[in-house]
Amino acid sequence: MVEGPHAPVAPAADSATQQPQTESPTERQVERQIEHQTQAQIVALQAATTIEPGTDESDDGYGTDYDSRASTSISSSVRDYAFEHGRRYHQYRAGQYQFPNDEPEQEREDMKHSMVVHLCGGKLHYAPLKNPQQIIDLGTGTGIWAIDMGDEYPSAQVLGTDLSPIQPSFLPPNVRFMVDDAESPWFSAPDSLDFVHARNMCAAIKDWPQLLSQAYTCLKPGGWVEIQDPHYQARCDDGTMNEDYPVAKFFNTVKEGLAVFGVDLLGAKKNADLLRDAGFTNVEEKVFKIPIGVWPRNKTMKLIGLYMRSVIYDGLQAISLGPFTRGLHWTPEEIEVFLISVRKALMNQATHSYVTFHVVYGQKPGES
Ligand SMILES: C[S@@+](CC[C@H](N)C(=O)[O-])C[C@H]1O[C@@H](n2cnc3c(N)ncnc32)[C@H](O)[C@@H]1O
Repeated sequence: MVEGPHAPVAPAADSATQQPQTESPTERQVERQIEHQTQAQIVALQAATTIEPGTDESDDGYGTDYDSRASTSISSSVRDYAFEHGRRYHQYRAGQYQFPNDEPEQEREDMKHSMVVHLCGGKLHYAPLKNPQQIIDLGTGTGIWAIDMGDEYPSAQVLGTDLSPIQPSFLPPNVRFMVDDAESPWFSAPDSLDFVHARNMCAAIKDWPQLLSQAYTCLKPGGWVEIQDPHYQARCDDGTMNEDYPVAKFFNTVKEGLAVFGVDLLGAKKNADLLRDAGFTNVEEKVFKIPIGVWPRNKTMKLIGLYMRSVIYDGLQAISLGPFTRGLHWTPEEIEVFLISVRKALMNQATHSYVTFHVVYGQKPGES
């Protein structure tokens, strides 16, 4: 599993510059607390409050390994896949999901996994699980979360389902994958699951209440559901983002394109209410900030920002092709012209933009 950042914060100043003995106990207490905080806690705190920008606008070397991948790799299997504008898509329930499933897209999904796990201080989930036995990951993608969960809970059985058969076959013995549509009736029996997990699915699922109703039915009493999703609206706390920020326009156009297919890209903010409406109790929500770019001062936030910028930059074509051409009837050429300003804006460190990330979990009532 991707380890969370555990490096201690910079050591306190040396004895020559240390505060004299006369400092107030409160200051010493605070200093000691800061010394003992892990980097992960600082990241979580910043991510949940205000991200401090760095002092310069250079990339600090973070941009030097940057490598955009707009090319497409063609799989040997054409039977299971559909192709459009040079990208590969799922064939089972074709057209249900608007984004490719080819190698560049899978690499991007794994990068997103690293980003989210760093953001969450190494945690794979926030629901307070106790010895879970049956876990399902809806829309598992490359299966990276399911595999990590299998390692973390060796006595649990983890099932990842997806429209695309893109998961690896070399697996921990307690992890398996199945091609299935999460919006169709599930194979899981009522009262059989301990944990239902769905991450980065806001751009995929059309009918969340229906999905959550199935989760409720299939969970054991006392079982947990958790949804983790970004809210793709560009934000800024310090006035450095212009009204016509191209990245904001990009997100908005993706939202419009997905709306044509009945998908709400900005659904993340509704998830806590949806869980309550579905009958779940003990519903909790955690909101983090994901910087776009390497503008934060904190090293881990900077890394998370680099991940996010790469996830968007590398995915500009993959993200826009489906929603813009299928949904809004743009031509691929129109998309390319539009993306020029988005690429430029993404690399501009003077704009301290971010999106929020919403972790929501709730419990099926009853004795576990
Ligand atoms: C953005 S990826 C997220 C992957 C994974 N959850 C993660 O966070 O690493 C969305 C995945 O959901 C899958 N998907 C979309 N709609 C689906 C559906 N109705 N049923 C099952 N999988 C679906 C896609 O094929 C894709 O692999």
